[in-house]
Amino acid sequence: MKILVLGSEGFIGGHSVNHFHSKGNEIHGVDFFEKSNHQIFYHQYQLDDPGCAQVFKTVEFDYCINAAGNGNVNISVTQPEKDFVANTQFTFQILETLRVYSPRCKYIHISSAAVYGNPEVLPINETSPIQPVSPYGWHKFMSEQICKEYFQLYGIQSAIIRPFSVYGPGLKKQIFWDVYMKSFQDSTSIELWGGGEEARDFIYIDDLISAIDTIIKNSSMEADIYNVASGQMTFIRDAVAILLQNLDNQKIITFNGESHKGNPIKWEADISKITSLGFNPMVNLKEGVAKLANWMKIQNN
Ligand SMILES: NC(=O)c1ccc[n+]([C@@H]2O[C@H](COP(=O)([O-])OP(=O)(O)OC[C@H]3O[C@@H](n4cnc5c(N)ncnc54)[C@H](O)[C@@H]3O)[C@@H](O)[C@H]2O)c1
Repeated sequence: MKILVLGSEGFIGGHSVNHFHSKGNEIHGVDFFEKSNHQIFYHQYQLDDPGCAQVFKTVEFDYCINAAGNGNVNISVTQPEKDFVANTQFTFQILETLRVYSPRCKYIHISSAAVYGNPEVLPINETSPIQPVSPYGWHKFMSEQICKEYFQLYGIQSAIIRPFSVYGPGLKKQIFWDVYMKSFQDSTSIELWGGGEEARDFIYIDDLISAIDTIIKNSSMEADIYNVASGQMTFIRDAVAILLQNLDNQKIITFNGESHKGNPIKWEADISKITSLGFNPMVNLKEGVAKLANWMKIQNN
């Protein structure tokens, strides 16, 4: 297959490239950077560069995986327009480019569990109420609607994934990276936001990529939505304790009791829709965090 990965140099994009390349597919990547870190056909473009459409004109792709959105809730709160452009407007531009130049290319859209905000009922399934608490969540929800519009009106096939908290080697943001950076501070404790009783459904990056693979193989691609998570809820305080243990770090974690604007409190996913396609998460949190800590130790050397 010929697969185009938008955001090929990022966390999810890079792991997607590695996986699908290792399976013998022809991989093309688009990103801002001058050079790619991967042995692929690389096209340096910003998504709003008119030249980017040239990539779709010259190669007939089977799939386009869009891993180029803004993945930072805090930026969406302070710069909502920037987030809207990255997560909503660019989704429209990509789908419009597919409609005009490559209507047989199927589109994998990476949305987010942020569309659910603070759910009243756990676990969350794909029909749970949409009630985002951040511009990021709203903009992701709008981007999903555009996928549905392009499927229903123009027949552009797509699948929408709502990842929960993805982690693994290469991710230099969010809670684990924050704790890792603070582990170098000259103090006996590490202060984090919140009260520690917040909880997330963590999914290791290899499992997320396996979910995308399952969708490519088995989804009907009718703009269907899939939760992608482990299906296990973990308290933040427990997750960071596992990381510190693996980093051989003795610091004490404290919580400042303040909530971070835009961040939900507890997430646990119902993943029965994607498991019914054949997906099974393989890496539990202890194994995944151990792999993450090993990667972090290499960064340090
Ligand atoms: N990491 C997570 O936990 C998580 C969870 C849910 C959803 N997501 C979504 O997955 C997607 C990818 O997230 P990530 O964590 O891999 O992000 P990332 O920042 O690591 O990667 C994004 C990549 O896209 C590139 N890019 C961004 N805008 C671009 C543009 N206009 N033109 C060309 N290249 C551009 C960046 O240079 C970067 O290499 C985002 O849409 C994010 O919202 C991530």
